[in-house]
Amino acid sequence: MSAEASVYPVPEFASSTTHISSEQYKTMYQQSIKKPDVFWAKQAQIIDWVKPFKTVKDTSFKKEDFRIKWFADGTLNVCANCVDRHLPHNKDKIAFIFEGNEPGNVRHISYEELYHHVCRFANVLKKHGVKKGNVVTLYMPMIPEAIYAMLACARIGAIHSVVFGGFSASALAGRLDDCGSKIVITADGAQRGPKTIPLKETVDLALTKTKKATVQKVITIKHTGAGCHMKEDQDVWYHEEARQVQDECAYEEMGAEDPLFILYTSGSTGTPKGVLHTSGGYLTYAALTHKYVFDYHENDIYWCTADVGWITGHSYVVYGPLANGATSVIFEGVPTYPDAARFWQVIDDHKVSIFYTAPTAIRSLMSKGDDYVTRTNRSSLRVLGSVGEPLNPEAWHWYYNLVGRSTCPIVDTWWQTETGGILLTPLPGAMSLKPGSVARPFFGIQPALLNKEGKEIRGAGTGSLVIKESWPGQMRGVYQDQDRFFKTYFDTFKGYYSSEDGARRDKEGYYWITGRMDDIINVSGHRIGTAEVEAAINNHPQVAESAVIGIPHPIKGEALFAFVILKMGADVKAVFDADLLQLIGRNIGSFAKPETIVIVPGLPKTRSGKIMRRILRKIALGKTNEIGDTSTLSEPRIVNKISELVLAAQ
Ligand code: WTA
Repeated sequence: MSAEASVYPVPEFASSTTHISSEQYKTMYQQSIKKPDVFWAKQAQIIDWVKPFKTVKDTSFKKEDFRIKWFADGTLNVCANCVDRHLPHNKDKIAFIFEGNEPGNVRHISYEELYHHVCRFANVLKKHGVKKGNVVTLYMPMIPEAIYAMLACARIGAIHSVVFGGFSASALAGRLDDCGSKIVITADGAQRGPKTIPLKETVDLALTKTKKATVQKVITIKHTGAGCHMKEDQDVWYHEEARQVQDECAYEEMGAEDPLFILYTSGSTGTPKGVLHTSGGYLTYAALTHKYVFDYHENDIYWCTADVGWITGHSYVVYGPLANGATSVIFEGVPTYPDAARFWQVIDDHKVSIFYTAPTAIRSLMSKGDDYVTRTNRSSLRVLGSVGEPLNPEAWHWYYNLVGRSTCPIVDTWWQTETGGILLTPLPGAMSLKPGSVARPFFGIQPALLNKEGKEIRGAGTGSLVIKESWPGQMRGVYQDQDRFFKTYFDTFKGYYSSEDGARRDKEGYYWITGRMDDIINVSGHRIGTAEVEAAINNHPQVAESAVIGIPHPIKGEALFAFVILKMGADVKAVFDADLLQLIGRNIGSFAKPETIVIVPGLPKTRSGKIMRRILRKIALGKTNEIGDTSTLSEPRIVNKISELVLAAQ
């Protein structure tokens, strides 16, 4: 059955109650493209402005007059939009239902409580000298305090940089140096299933590795109760600081284009980039997409399982849902602890109606068998979402039929750290669904597919996925490296934002993401640059060179496969996989460890010295008969040698 053969029409119940019907989608989409100023001026009223904007869109992707500004003369405060403005009518409404790692560890936090927590946190930051425009780094577990800290930064105009708690000390150190952070907020530890992760210890180690020594204070939340070494003059406990300050704190009036946060993400070359998002456009886009893509209504219980260390956590755990005054579940643990029914159990316990997760979690739970799902009820569910990598049709059907009892539309949402919010997605109630497809563009998004010559493909076809015009949630820069911003995203195809993803469009205009076109590998939804893993491996004193590629993996989507050349005279037996794995764990984080490492005598290269990753991929998959002509290689015989070694290693 071809992918196109299965189509799920909009169910009757969905179209009658959703915000957007098929007809409305068509009308609103046309307006958003033809009259963006009118459209966005109206939609930006989804948030509150201190000083209303007069200009709406002021953007150009062309080199001569490159600029991206939205609502530039308006002012607002993002935190006030997420918290304060809900107090007059909804102060007792629950903002967060915190579900801890251990079942039964549940906390409810109302909007009023959230307000006081955030104000207190903001006052602690102020006490330590944090001012508008300073960068504050967070290295946190998925606990409410992580969200208080982010909102506290937004309240006083500080820029947060959240580093995912799975990154190593070296990775954290690199990010601290890059943004010159003066403050780090962390916790004594994180709990993930049966494991406790010593976050504060990693921060201590990171601080011995930073080159610029900008960090002056580390504020630690007591969470697991694990003891920490506290350095005088540098380390303070949050709970002790919090006692000394008030729980009211006025917010800063910010310009729409003032920075809100930096989030580091892997690129195909060089060190991770500090993706910079600003205030007005980002929040408008996060709130609007959250409302329409998930068809969010006042009484929904919404749960996005992402960690705040990733963009999904920023836009769809924190900013979008809070701007809309939603009640969200936040979950500290992992989907398989204490067993593989945990997600479904939490859905039943809290009557979750909108559930947003990643394909890797869906596939991993699918592999554990249906019983874990069927022993729960899940009748509260209304909309299911997916993000981070392609949701293959088999996993789609399992999610739809079993988890959603064939009653919940699945929104497979395509977007990126750089895009700030969802760009391609079905809207429940407005579009029929095709398993494996991310459907159509959201309002204001003009996707195009380009061929190798950079010409736009009309109608059905496959090519590089680019976006023709700016949208409010778009990133505004690479922190402190504006040249890199332009070069990375706007130089490849002149006048377009280049996503670096490939996509196919069918004859009905539905998009299907075919994967990254650059050297980024998507392992369990984590973006990993091959260059970063290679750099870590090459740190080993016995290693001369390496090449890392991605190959399909049934649960993780993709897995890393490393080819390693040792230095002349190095003893093969002395370089154990374990050393290399440890090195990668230390340099990046455990999630970047390759599944397979093969020591090889050479790599297939062109005469100009470029590694032919296409050939390595075929070898790793055992498809040597598909390699084709190797005569352009500098040393064609190497292909057979590597193939033999790969076979022997399997
Ligand atoms: C991939 C995550 C297929 C894609 C929000 C993109 C997807 C990268 C999907 C961004 C999807 C994300 N279908 N592929 N629904 N969503 N991707 O920056 O390759 O962590 O470029 O942002 O994930 O990953 P990032």
